[in-house]
Amino acid sequence: HAPIVIAVDGPAASGKGTLSRRLATQYGLRHLDTGLSYRAVAQALLASGQPLDDEALAATAARAVDFSGFDAAALSAHEVGDAASRVSVFPPVRRILVDKQRDFARVPPGAVLDGRDIGTVVCPDADVKLYVTASPAVRAGRRHREILRLGGQAEYEAILADIERRDARDMGRADSPLRPADDAHLLDTSQMSIEAAFLAACAIIDAAR
Ligand code: C5P
Repeated sequence: HAPIVIAVDGPAASGKGTLSRRLATQYGLRHLDTGLSYRAVAQALLASGQPLDDEALAATAARAVDFSGFDAAALSAHEVGDAASRVSVFPPVRRILVDKQRDFARVPPGAVLDGRDIGTVVCPDADVKLYVTASPAVRAGRRHREILRLGGQAEYEAILADIERRDARDMGRADSPLRPADDAHLLDTSQMSIEAAFLAACAIIDAAR
């Protein structure tokens, strides 16, 4: 049996990570949050005081990224996500990380990969492709509540501005911009609970298998 691959793409704070983890458990697949690989590159540069706008330095950091385990806590900070979207515009960084992501997807029994370009570039032959969105206001509201729930502080307006800036950068870049694959199933979760989104995704996957 060829490995089963489920591609989940979408913008920042769309809920694709939570959804992907649940789908991996439901279907007995491995899960890879590809955003963490771009965050790891950004974090390595930030931690060593290196600039984020040097393509060669970023490529060297990308080669060193270890896919066997990411420190999600260190990588989850908002600033790291923003820095990740800056280093992710460099084609050599993308080539290096995409190769490693494809290696992950090839291992039986298969995997759920979530990111921005899984259905379009990383796994164009994925068995099922989902494109998860919600309005910027809804995504900012969810992120805001999450930060407050964890005891942090944040301004809703600042989060919304950040999400809109990241959307523009991820959709506007030349190499592998964020967009739905032609054969992706669109899932707009603006008016959906996590549970409803999960059930809708399962219905799409079951119908495709
Ligand atoms: O999904 P997450 O917010 O962790 O991703 C951080 C950044 O990494 C994104 O804003 C995007 O610029 C980049 N990224 C990417 N391709 C992916 C996953 C993430 O360019 N497949």
